[in-house]
Amino acid sequence: MPALTPTRDDKFSFGLWTVGYNGADPFGGPTRAPLDVVHAVEKLAELGAYGLTFHDDDLFAFGSTDAERQKQIDRLKQAMADTGIIVPMVTTNLFSAPVFKDGGFTSNDRDVRRFAMRKAMRQLELGVELGAKTFVMWGGREGAEYDSAKDIQSALERYREALNVFAQYVTDKGYDIRFAIEPKPNEPRGDILLPTLGHAIAFIETLERPELFGVNPEVGHEQMAGLNFTSGIAQALYQGKLYHIDLNGQRGIKYDQDLVFGHGDLYNAFSLVDLLENGSPQGGPTYDGPRHFDYKPSRTEDENGVWDSAAANMSNYLMLKERAAAFRADPEVQEALEASRVTELAVTTLSDGETYDDLLADKSAFEDFDHDAYFNGKGFGFVRLQQLATEHLLGAR
Ligand code: GCO
Ligand code: MN
Ligand code: MN
Repeated sequence: MPALTPTRDDKFSFGLWTVGYNGADPFGGPTRAPLDVVHAVEKLAELGAYGLTFHDDDLFAFGSTDAERQKQIDRLKQAMADTGIIVPMVTTNLFSAPVFKDGGFTSNDRDVRRFAMRKAMRQLELGVELGAKTFVMWGGREGAEYDSAKDIQSALERYREALNVFAQYVTDKGYDIRFAIEPKPNEPRGDILLPTLGHAIAFIETLERPELFGVNPEVGHEQMAGLNFTSGIAQALYQGKLYHIDLNGQRGIKYDQDLVFGHGDLYNAFSLVDLLENGSPQGGPTYDGPRHFDYKPSRTEDENGVWDSAAANMSNYLMLKERAAAFRADPEVQEALEASRVTELAVTTLSDGETYDDLLADKSAFEDFDHDAYFNGKGFGFVRLQQLATEHLLGAR
């Protein structure tokens, strides 16, 4: 099936830290050797990806000299030129080094906050140089374990301050780049600031240049909070804030698993791809940015497993895309959507020009309305619709 072979047009991208994950976790050290960036770029290009993303520290170790840093940048640039791989997004590591143990932009320690801003701005410059259009900010250490340890309102103020400075900076420089905040409820901090995409979108509205800021939601992060990722993405799209996306898999409310996309909640992955590719059932915005995989090849795997899992992410996305197209095209599904009144939700509740006086005068809306008919009748048929989705998802249709 040729449609299932990834091409550059599918816009699949991978973090260098994803395929480069060496298997270290809190209970054990690495199970794999370090992965060189040039090799990673070559393999990703061969598998059909179009983009590589990275934190500063993924490419050159924290504390590198300027010469060491430049050498790695030059090697990446050469690999990009040789393969056609682009860098659609970059991000800064403000979580690994001991200096960030209480966060970066919201550390209680002002010197750390100033250092974090400088580190982020340096990576922002590199991103612009490499042609990145999105700068992701995941504040993994922006949080606390204890309520008494962090003044959350001041932390939000300091986060705002940093983002307003960055927005001013890219505006003054005329850079064509936007910022995407990545929410996560917890891990590594006990609680992280801006824990869900809803918190992040609300916060963005308080910024001086909200149009430069959107979200980079990650499947597993919303699911760690017990939330429905697809419905969160629907709202992010609705509010014009889906600037980037981290695709992976998660099985329930537990530690951040970063499984292959589709290896977690497959139903939610199906509805997600359907939404991203086809919009809501009534139309509505779709997503045309990078399909970015932020997963970790399991530490049980050797390098073969790394590339198998990278390929699996793309293949699962494409299979789901094909299944979603079949679901949408099925006349029985269309009929079931009508029967379930899914389409009726697009009809305004008041008619064109109707006022609240008209509504109050409408006896059919209240006095004569037969609400008893909803007992033992007028079922919505959502189960039938979901079974049709299941049949398409499992390839039975
Ligand atoms: C995580 C995060 C990170 C970020 C990355 C980019 O839970 O570890 O998802 O992988 O996506 O730091 O900002
Ligand atoms: Mn994650
Ligand atoms: Mn992520």
